[in-house]
Amino acid sequence: MSEAKELARKHIWAWGRFRASGIALGALFLLAFASALAVPQGAVAQTNDRTVAEPSPVGGNVPGGHLGANSDTDLWRAVRGGIQGTVSIPNKQAGQMIQSGGDSWRAWRNGPITVIGGSALLVMLGVIALFFLVRGRIRIDAGPSGKTIERFNGIERFAHWLTAVCFIILALTGLNLLYGRHALLPVLGPDVFATITQLGKYAHNYLSFGFMAGIVLMFVLWVRHNLPSKYDIKWLAQGGGILIKGAHPPSKKFNAGQKVIFWSVILGGLSISLSGISLLFPFELPLFGVTFAALNVFGFGLPTDLGPMGEMQYAQMWHAWVAVGLIAIVLGHIYIGSLGMEGAFDAMGTGLVDENWAREHHSVWVAEVKGEPIPDSDNHGPPKAQPAE
Ligand code: HEM
Repeated sequence: MSEAKELARKHIWAWGRFRASGIALGALFLLAFASALAVPQGAVAQTNDRTVAEPSPVGGNVPGGHLGANSDTDLWRAVRGGIQGTVSIPNKQAGQMIQSGGDSWRAWRNGPITVIGGSALLVMLGVIALFFLVRGRIRIDAGPSGKTIERFNGIERFAHWLTAVCFIILALTGLNLLYGRHALLPVLGPDVFATITQLGKYAHNYLSFGFMAGIVLMFVLWVRHNLPSKYDIKWLAQGGGILIKGAHPPSKKFNAGQKVIFWSVILGGLSISLSGISLLFPFELPLFGVTFAALNVFGFGLPTDLGPMGEMQYAQMWHAWVAVGLIAIVLGHIYIGSLGMEGAFDAMGTGLVDENWAREHHSVWVAEVKGEPIPDSDNHGPPKAQPAE
């Protein structure tokens, strides 16, 4: 045989062997694939489970016996329902895989709180606009006298503006957290919105302390002027005289309407502050379990075992409800303290008010300050201007 023929014969033999082993491998692979398809899925799972799960020591009765008395469905239903397991790490919350209350919290936050809260603010703005259209600006009936009387000193005005400036920024940045993604994000775009929201969050966190200091100061300075007095009933009965032109029910330093504002700011502010601190330092100040337990004495039947996440969710919801309510009240206050009433802003601007304004709105207070006899009739104001001789 020539050398060339011998070489060709070796090649053919090698190719034959390669092809034969390839076919054998392919056949094996097909066989394995086919048998995998033929075995039902459950059987694989069962085989695997058998290797990991011991039969229940209390006598499992699930067919197959591999899961004991509990099915997977029961287990995952309990997990979904927020079952608390135990963990050995310090963070005990890690023992709860799913905190189910988060669902209802989200539904409340994105539902009633946002919708009712937003509607309340819009209704308030509507009422103010309507009041302005119907009643117009409340004027000083006797006209300005040109003489002034000190209404608020420097410390009082400092307390007021500290509270007011902090509150307004807190309100705007807080409303951004509730409504920003609906109202501002589409207008400003994600970058600008993210930046202002982050800065707003810092402002919200830090200015809360200014607000708290402000309400403490206001409380100390004005609480004695905001206790109930006999003039409040008359003032309320006459609707503060603001609906009827020329009606001026007597009042001390603060009338009944202002007392409502004062106590709303103090009590609402206290409540917002406590829930805010609870949110600022998560899980450190649980407030609601104990509050609910105290309320249950009166038969409310509120849940008391809220868990750390539940506490935070209640704190957030309460914070938002009270904040929106207080903002609605303060909107009315800002209107009457500025555009709504001639001469009112000076009280918090310079601290000096026109004497005629003071006699019309706070007749008893003016008499006290000036040492005059306390007026007791229903309709007080400055003496009517006498025509010049
Ligand atoms: C631009 C915003 C504001 C203006 C123009 C304003 C104006 C005034 C004025 C003029 C007074 C004195 C009324 C009087 O002499 O009888 C006053 C009092 C008061 N302000 Fe404001 N205020 C503003 C914001 C706020 C805010 C945000 C709060 C609290 C969150 C607040 C709380 C109070 C309280 C508690 C009083 C005493 C009670 C009363 O007069 O109603 N103010 N404000």
